[in-house]
Amino acid sequence: MTITAMDRAEAAERAMMEELDRQIVVKSVIYTSGERDPRLPIPRRADNGKRYVMGHDPRLPQMPERPTLFDFFKYRFGPANHLMQSARLARRNGASETIVLACLLHDIANIGFIRGDHGYWAAQLVEPYVDEEVSWGIRYHQALRFYPDESVGYTYPEAYIRLFGPDYRPDPYIERDYRYARDHKWYMSARLITVNDLYAFDPDVRVELEEFTDIVGRHFRQPKEGLGFDASPSAHMWRTIMWPTKYL
Ligand SMILES: [Fe+2]
Ligand SMILES: [Fe+2]
Repeated sequence: MTITAMDRAEAAERAMMEELDRQIVVKSVIYTSGERDPRLPIPRRADNGKRYVMGHDPRLPQMPERPTLFDFFKYRFGPANHLMQSARLARRNGASETIVLACLLHDIANIGFIRGDHGYWAAQLVEPYVDEEVSWGIRYHQALRFYPDESVGYTYPEAYIRLFGPDYRPDPYIERDYRYARDHKWYMSARLITVNDLYAFDPDVRVELEEFTDIVGRHFRQPKEGLGFDASPSAHMWRTIMWPTKYL
């Protein structure tokens, strides 16, 4: 008898269910915040002798021992079409390799980690591994998105009107950071991310990560221990993306 893909999927599913029978997966407050009243105690089910997850969540694909940036793209960042298409557009528009890299990374926080203030989170994630200009651009692209710049043909996104309503005004800290960024020597780096930030990406266009292997190789300093294990200031954040339900 041959083992079909279906059999393999079923076996994997069974193994996962067995694992979940033995282990309890809990969610961090950040995943449930807003869905329950934070002033009340967190409801707890009886553990019935089960152990809590202290590492890999059996529901997620296992990551390699020494994960690379691309491993995070493959196993944790979901289909990253928006990022890859934005990076490809930047390259076609003649942007430098560092800007292409910034475009490839600019939204990793909202697709793989934390949504609110995603520019700041993404910048912090990559800061130890890229040139300062790259993380700086990623940090400020979030604020710059709200402000047009006719000199480069950037207008306020149609999508924002739909998403946030025509009366939406950015918070004062966004306004402040926009003003700071506008006068900074790297303003154009952040601005170019917004210019190449594709909202209406084409679902039929397939971009492979491998298109960016060389750029990542030249401009992203992969730690030899793997992202998450190199004791950098953001290593713990990569570990949390890898093991989002680790109990402690
Ligand atoms: Fe963004
Ligand atoms: Fe984006």
